[in-house]
Amino acid sequence: MKSVIATTYGGPEVLRVVDAPTPVAGEGQVLVRVAASSVNPLDWHELRGKPYLVRIMRGLRAPKTSGQAMGSDVAGVVESVDPGVTRFAVGDEVLGFGKAAWSDVMVVGEAGLVRKPADLSMTDAGGVGVAAITALQGLRKGGLSEPLTWSTGEVEPMRPRVLIIGASGGVGTFAVQIAKLLGAHVTAVTSTRNLELVARLGADDVVDYTTTEVTQQLPRFDLVFELAGTRRRRELARILSPTGTLVACGAPRGQWIGPLAAPAALAIASRFSKRTYTSFLAKRDTDDLQQLAAWLGTGALRVVVDEVYPRDRVAEAVEHSEGGHARGKVILTL
Ligand SMILES: NC(=O)c1ccc[n+]([C@@H]2O[C@H](COP(=O)([O-])OP(=O)(O)OC[C@H]3O[C@@H](n4cnc5c(N)ncnc54)[C@H](OP(=O)(O)O)[C@@H]3O)[C@@H](O)[C@H]2O)c1
Repeated sequence: MKSVIATTYGGPEVLRVVDAPTPVAGEGQVLVRVAASSVNPLDWHELRGKPYLVRIMRGLRAPKTSGQAMGSDVAGVVESVDPGVTRFAVGDEVLGFGKAAWSDVMVVGEAGLVRKPADLSMTDAGGVGVAAITALQGLRKGGLSEPLTWSTGEVEPMRPRVLIIGASGGVGTFAVQIAKLLGAHVTAVTSTRNLELVARLGADDVVDYTTTEVTQQLPRFDLVFELAGTRRRRELARILSPTGTLVACGAPRGQWIGPLAAPAALAIASRFSKRTYTSFLAKRDTDDLQQLAAWLGTGALRVVVDEVYPRDRVAEAVEHSEGGHARGKVILTL
């Protein structure tokens, strides 16, 4: 089978499509024939081995053999299952995320997959995994949960005010829609060319960061979900309500410890404030994947696809994502 690997740290040019041994599903694992995947910033951080702290996990001078196969998001068809797997059978169409997703087949722990909704195309399903779960978990971390509903069926009128910075990217396009599904009043920050897109996704207000300094001119928010990594905590504190929460998810492009520097600083700042400053790492959670699949199945949530690349153009796809201005998801088809 073919797989995309990187045996050395570097840019998209070090990626190679090679023949690799077909893996076998181990205990609790599912073997999936991959139809589509996508590119996440995580992929090119791992590819470049930057911030350098990444290399503690992946290998100091070069990626360890076990970490050379690239790709996280997966949409595909179950080809075989370990006998201990109960939720899936051969032939099921699934989506989720794992390791080595830019390979013809990959093994995924059962918990990292859910059934793909029948009406969702494989191409769209390939863009769900990391970005959608990050959006859902980040908003929950910021205190958003199911909207209160009165006995009349009306949604509780005090809608939390949420600001999403980086609203037109992979995570942001999901976050705008999910925040609306969770009952928030959403203000979306993006550049001029994407204002219409985020309004179409349901944002109540849109802000063009190329003409408006968001940390100066806006009202206060209960939750600021920061996905661009371009603004400092102190600046964002100005637009938080007195008990509001900042969830910092966007990674400043640091060489050494980058986004991993943030959690400690945010935790310290929180100790001296009524506001909450926090960051998080998205994690595998089957219930969250089920929730996303349910929304995708009814059409309440949709995948915004920027561009679709065949796998032999994987280097171009990564370059596109690394440019930092994707409009929704950059998809790879296999
Ligand atoms: N903590 C975690 O577990 C986790 C998981 C996934 C992702 N992340 C991080 O979350 C961030 C977003 O990921 P993603 O997949 O959405 O990235 P992406 O698809 O590359 O999107 C980046 C977005 O940022 C916007 N942007 C760039 N400069 C901006 C600025 N100055 N102000 C406002 N928006 C700006 C871009 O919009 P324009 O084109 O309009 O500029 C683009 O839509 C990344 O830093 C990623 O590393 C963290």
